[in-house]
Order: sequence, then structure tokens, then C-alpha cells
Amino acid sequence: MLSKLFKVKPLSKLLEDSQDQSHSLKRTLGPFNLTLLGIGAIIGAGLFVRTAAAAADHAGAAVTISYIVAAVGCAFAGLCYAEFASSIPIAGSAYTYSYATVGEFVAWIIGWDLILEYAFGAATVAIAWSEYLNKLLANWNLQIPYEWSHSPFETSISGIVGIVNLPAILILVLVTLLLIRGTQQSAFINGIIVVIKVAIVLLFIVFGWSFINPINHTPMIPEPSIIKSSLGNDISFGGVMGILGGAGVVFFAFIGFDAVSTAAQEAKNPKRDMPIGILASLAICTVLYILFSYVLTGIANYTDFRIAGKEASVTYAISNYMPGFEWLALLITIAILAGFSSVILVMLLGQTRVFFSMARDGLVPSVFSDVHPKYRTPYKSNIIFFIFVGLFAGFIPGSVAGDMTSIGTLFAFVLVCVGVWILRVKNPDMPRGFKTPLVPLVPILGIIVCAAMIYGLGAENWMRLGVWLMIGFVIYFTYSIKNSVLQKDSK
Ligand code: ALA
Repeated sequence: MLSKLFKVKPLSKLLEDSQDQSHSLKRTLGPFNLTLLGIGAIIGAGLFVRTAAAAADHAGAAVTISYIVAAVGCAFAGLCYAEFASSIPIAGSAYTYSYATVGEFVAWIIGWDLILEYAFGAATVAIAWSEYLNKLLANWNLQIPYEWSHSPFETSISGIVGIVNLPAILILVLVTLLLIRGTQQSAFINGIIVVIKVAIVLLFIVFGWSFINPINHTPMIPEPSIIKSSLGNDISFGGVMGILGGAGVVFFAFIGFDAVSTAAQEAKNPKRDMPIGILASLAICTVLYILFSYVLTGIANYTDFRIAGKEASVTYAISNYMPGFEWLALLITIAILAGFSSVILVMLLGQTRVFFSMARDGLVPSVFSDVHPKYRTPYKSNIIFFIFVGLFAGFIPGSVAGDMTSIGTLFAFVLVCVGVWILRVKNPDMPRGFKTPLVPLVPILGIIVCAAMIYGLGAENWMRLGVWLMIGFVIYFTYSIKNSVLQKDSK
């Protein structure tokens, strides 16, 4: 039994699979497009929604330091991802890499865990999209009623309870339709959106800088205390725990650079271009984030983000503290709506690609690897995930979906760092397009920093991750192990 669980998929088999024309995807993406794909996935709700939430609930103005901690964790994990992606250029991300190194069971855990990253990530951003849509409509005195734009777990200041988040579901429908049409068109639209997104982040930093009020940055690190979250549970605020908790939350803002690796099968030259796409997009975003969070918490006080500025926080900060810049608030809101759509696109793309690989390995039903005869996209998978993600986006709060995304991704990163290290020991001579420097130091540091952020996210999130993994184990032992192509082949 144990040998079954640790059965490794041979690299030669992986490469052979990727050549199989009947299920293959078109190779259309170069290094520039991959970096754009990365930035498209990276800048989104994390920056424009979770920054304020992390400041309000965890770190105060020290959210800037939280960003640095999260960036360091991502940089270590990113270096490991880049090595994996350059040596195993197959769709499927960390899932595929671990299948070739640590074996089927761990690969399953990662694949299952990546649902938290991609599907829950897409749900979180869709929920954030809904917030900013309402902010935009307010410009014309229109409003989607609170109950139709919030989950049943949320209550407005005036006591209205949410029913379902309809705008969040709407944006998921639109993106799903685009995805079914094909990646090439999607990549083009994504490129335009990325340019807009980077431009508004820069505009906010440049114009906002002169509105920074030093009082809001004093003290930079608030004294440690225990506060109540909006859902009523206790959270450590301020001090080192606040910074770590904040890092776990804003870590969400970095998620996506690894989505580049899920497009390996659509890359023209994956060995060279994957590491470029991953590391370049990560570096660009890190610089923008540190500056952005410094300006945001300088313009508005973090306590503002607990009540009045809780939703659509960036627009709130501009409208209330940057007189004369209403035009910027409007522009940013529109750009954010477009920007979030591109994040959702890459998240859903990543999700279907991971399941594409898992279906071909027999670990999930083959419906997930059926390719559309004309568009050559996994359209059935797109539709199934739309339903799944739509349920979460419609019925759970953004903070819960966001924290689940963070913890799931952090866990996957830890496993990737472990995997790179194992592969170096087990298979030192394998050709690698890119080599992680200073192994095992870099993977070990990656594991430590990511584990610290998992710790910072608190017991409730550890429990949710535990339950999610348990469900995954049940599916593995009742379905996947029996249908695994690898296990059947070796009988
Ligand atoms: N990094 C992506 C975002 O912030 C998931 O929306």
C-alpha cells in the first residue's frame, strides 16, 4: 500500500503525455506574454481589498512590513517554482512537479490543495469585484441592494442580512465564456488589462504620496492587543503576530505568479520562458506593493478600514482624503473592475489546467480533460468550475474565501520547496533550464517563512485547511487510487 502512495510518475512518461496531440493545447505564449499572464494574475483583490483588511485586522500601518515578509516567502518559493517549471514543462503546476518527485499521494494533496488557491482565489476576487461595482454604481446614485450583493454571513451597518452575491456570479459567467473561446484571445485582452492595472497603481502612488499624513504611520508597528474580527472571533492585532497575520492575509496579493507555471504546455519555449515569467512578474509586483501599501495606510488611518472604509477601500481613501482627485477615484474603480477580471481569468485558467493534468492521470474523472473540438479548450471543466466557484462566490464572505486561498497556497508552496530539495537529492543530474540557487538553504528558508505565515493566519484557518484535506483524502482513497493510470499501468 505504502509503495502505491509514493509511486512516482516517470519524467519520460510526463513528457510523452505532453506530446499527445489528441489532448494537447496550443503553444502560443512567449516570455513577454507569460510575464503579463503573471502580473495579470498577481495584481488584484489582494492589493486593492486585502491590504486594507490586513491593516485593519492585523498589522495597522505595519502592513507594509507584512508585504515585505510575504514577498520574501514568495521569492524563496518562486525560485523553487522556477526550477520545477523549467525542468518539467507540463501543464499542472505544483501538482505535476510533485507527481514526478515525491509521488502520487503528495501530488494528490497538492492538486486538491490547489483548488483552494485557484478556485477559492477566483471566488475571492469575484466577491471583491462586486464591492467595487457597487462603488462605481454609486457615482450615478445606483446601488445593488445589500442583500443581493453579499453572502448570508454578512450584515450591513444598518442590519440588513445578505442573501446571495449576484454580481460576483455575473463576472464569473463572463470570464468563463471568454475562457471557453480560447487562451490566445484571452492573453491579448489580459495584456491590455495589465497595462491599465499597473498604470493605476503608479498613479495612486504618485498622486497619493503628497497626501500621506505621518500621524497615520505613527506608530508604524502598533502595540500588541486582541481585537474582534467582523465575524466575531478573536485576532492578534499589532506587534510581531500582527505583522505575521497581516503577511498571511496580503500574501493573497502575490498569488498568481505560480499560475504562470500552469500554462507551461501553452508556452513556446517553457524551459527558458517559465522562470522569466515567474520571477519577473514577482519582482515587478513586489516593488509596487510595498509603495502602494505605504501610501494607502499613510492617506487613511487603518482604523478607517474597520468600518466606513471596509469595502472598496482604495476608492474610499481617495474620496475622503484626497480632495480634487474624484476623477482618480472613478478611474481607479473602473480599472480595478477590469483588473479583477484578468485575475479571475488566470485563476480559472490555472484551475482547469491543474484538473486537466489530474484527469489525464486518472485521479479525477476524464470529463476534466475533454477538449472542445474547435476551440481546443477544456470547456466542460470550465463549466463545472464555474458552478463550483459560483457557489462559493455567491454564498461565503470574501474574508473567509481569501484566507482559505492564502493558507492553501502557502501549504502548496511549502510542499514545492520540499519537492525541489528532494529532486536535487534523488535526481541531481536531471537537465534543468533554471537552477534554484543555494539548495537546500533557499527551500528551507521558503518553508520557514511560508510556515510562519500559516501560523499567523490562526487556528480557525488551520482547521478549515484540515477539513479540506480530509475531504481530499476520502476522495483519493475511494476514487483516485483505483482509477490512477499510473497504478493501472504498473499492475
Ligand atoms: N494575487 C491575486 C489578487 O490579489 C490573487 O487578486
